[in-house]
Amino acid sequence: MSLIARDDRRPPATRIAVTSGKGGVGKTSLTVNLAVAMARLGHRVGIIDADFALGNIDVMLGLTPEDHLGAVLDGVKTVGEITLDGPSGVRVIPAGSGVRALAAIDHEKWPRLIEAIDEAGRDLDFLLFDTATGVSDNVLDLIALTDYVLVVTSFEPAAVVDAYAVIKLVTAGDAAKPIGVVVNAARDAEEGGLVFRQISLAADRFLGRTLRYEGHVLEDRSVKDSGLAQMPLVGSDVAGPASRDIRRLACRLTSARPFGAGPWPSTPAGRGPSAVAEAPQCA
Ligand SMILES: Nc1ncnc2c1ncn2[C@@H]1O[C@H](COP(=O)(O)OP(=O)(O)O)[C@@H](O)[C@H]1O
Ligand SMILES: [Mg+2]
Repeated sequence: MSLIARDDRRPPATRIAVTSGKGGVGKTSLTVNLAVAMARLGHRVGIIDADFALGNIDVMLGLTPEDHLGAVLDGVKTVGEITLDGPSGVRVIPAGSGVRALAAIDHEKWPRLIEAIDEAGRDLDFLLFDTATGVSDNVLDLIALTDYVLVVTSFEPAAVVDAYAVIKLVTAGDAAKPIGVVVNAARDAEEGGLVFRQISLAADRFLGRTLRYEGHVLEDRSVKDSGLAQMPLVGSDVAGPASRDIRRLACRLTSARPFGAGPWPSTPAGRGPSAVAEAPQCA
């Protein structure tokens, strides 16, 4: 049997959108560190910098791309040609910064973007999308291409309200899209749980949606420091609380849905988050 035939049987990468309503809640930091944490668990992981035109995944990782997704959409380069090797083998597909053409992907470019995403995920287990802030059509259309939506919020009321707004719009587009929530920069676990309950009660009551709580990531100065140093926190010598929380999140996500696209359980059952949270490897 040829290698190609074997490859064809592999399920496609599970696509996870990391998104938020409000900016500055930690999407990019979380995406980078989550990807590294997943890779260190033995998975093949890629990041699409889906904050088109204002991408900064490469900056966060100290990478210097020669070209970006814009060149792929123009048909000048292939995804393989623009992909960068990041830490722990994470593959990074950079977006341009300050590229007007990427700010609004038109109908003509959209099929090329879909192809590029397919190509990017071909040899991967997980493909993370670091989306732009907000709920533009581009962001919602991209989310529609993913298997799971991870909504990041902080405890700030504006971030919580905006997180709910994203969940509402995603639900309006696809009532069955599985959605999880991460409370970032939380002061403690209790604060994280409180924020999640607020969002989840509203989603349950007004949208008839059950959300998965993917946990909190503690507020930790070392996240900022790692951003300044352009190095991921996870995998470094810093064993701070945020690093531990992100490793736990990586463990939960990869254990709950190891490979392949398709529907995720919206309520924990069997291998769901509660079961995984109790598993020693996710502690
Ligand atoms: N858990 C955390 N603790 C402390 N600071 C954080 C945490 N997560 C993110 N930050 C900081 O918050 C700022 C915004 O993060 P960023 O990832 O750029 O957000 P976004 O991509 O949502 O705009 C950065 O300075 C980052 O270092
Ligand atoms: Mg960002």
